[in-house]
Amino acid sequence: MMNGWPETDESKKLLLEQIHSFAQSEIAPKAKEADETGHFPMENIKKLAEMGLMGMMVPEQWGGSGMDAVSYVMAMEEIAAACASTAVVMSVNNSLVCWPINTYGTDAQKEKFLKPLASGQKLGCFALSEPGYGSDPANLKCHAKKVPGGYQIKGTKNWITNGKEADYCVLFATIDPAIGHKGICAFIVDTKSKGYSVAKVEHKLGITASSTAQLFFDEVFVSQECLLGAEGQGFKIALSTLDGGRIGIAAQALGIGRCAFDASKKFALEREQFGAPIAKLQAIQFFIADMATRLQAARLLTWSAAQCKDQGLKYTKEAAMAKLAAAEACNWIATKAIQVHGGYGYTKEYVVERNFRDAKITEIYEGTSEIQRIVIAAQELNGLR
Ligand code: CAA
Repeated sequence: MMNGWPETDESKKLLLEQIHSFAQSEIAPKAKEADETGHFPMENIKKLAEMGLMGMMVPEQWGGSGMDAVSYVMAMEEIAAACASTAVVMSVNNSLVCWPINTYGTDAQKEKFLKPLASGQKLGCFALSEPGYGSDPANLKCHAKKVPGGYQIKGTKNWITNGKEADYCVLFATIDPAIGHKGICAFIVDTKSKGYSVAKVEHKLGITASSTAQLFFDEVFVSQECLLGAEGQGFKIALSTLDGGRIGIAAQALGIGRCAFDASKKFALEREQFGAPIAKLQAIQFFIADMATRLQAARLLTWSAAQCKDQGLKYTKEAAMAKLAAAEACNWIATKAIQVHGGYGYTKEYVVERNFRDAKITEIYEGTSEIQRIVIAAQELNGLR
């Protein structure tokens, strides 16, 4: 535990303690097996739903917990410190699915889709990336043809977290690829729709228990009522959603980094070399000091971005800074954690081996670290690119 804002807030302190003890007693003990088998942690997701953690920032009226973004990132760090795979499932449902429906959806859409998603009865995914358009979604090619009563969707989506298990998909497709981002629309698609299929589930380096899928949309009919926001508003819906998503991934990175840090401290105090615990060696002490400092710097950026969001301020740059700093801190810490553990850290017996593999994705999804730098520089240089 760390002193300092905002853990001084009593209600948040209590929430944090509850989620910490839940995550450590219920989720952490099963994380190794989930990583090894690659089995989707549905049991964990059900428990998260019971605790109100699948739609944390959605008002209670729409099935959520009505909490703020600061509480969300604190909860996310705790879940990720126990199991990074479980954390990304939670993150996508909260940030990338519930948030845009709550923000841009009609009351009818909230009644039909948001209530079951926020309460955790249903699971969502966010389908923006395509095989040829990952960092550059403005040029995506998935096509939404206008037909009587709605749209017919045709295209392929790649690297979709929760793609295999999702009940509903927030999908981005264009009505006219010639007009770039201005043709992109957002839709809510029922994954049981005719023509929707999971083409492939990726075998990954880390977060192995979460699914990452390629999705095919073969002339899937989507009714007009499932258009989210206005026609042509889809790109802005996607990017504003990703602003919030990036705060969630920053918190996931904090959790992975903290797990590696805690394991390193424990190991350094127990492991003896040259007749004393290796924690007595200054080389190890410097690793521990730098881990603690990088982790807390990233945590404060993450809390600050979340607080901007709660206060209704613009947080595009703050979210990008938080994700950049937390993902890089997490990867640095995970690498040094293996170094502290030496040969033991390179084996699957120690959690730091999993932390090292899980860490990498935080520098890639929801915008690579290079994309975050582009976003930050554009904000600092008045949009110059
Ligand atoms: N919120 C709302 N609108 C925004 C915005 C934001 N944060 N950022 C830009 N816009 C608007 C701009 O104002 C502009 O609008 P006008 O044309 O009306 O002026 C419009 O969007 C286009 O802006 P840009 O010219 O800056 O857009 P761009 O095409 O150059 O892209 C980018 C900018 C930052 C590179 C962006 O494409 C980006 O963030 N790329 C990364 C995408 C990404 O994160 N993908 C991850 C997919 S999700 C995932 O990982 C899957 C998962 O399951 C976890």
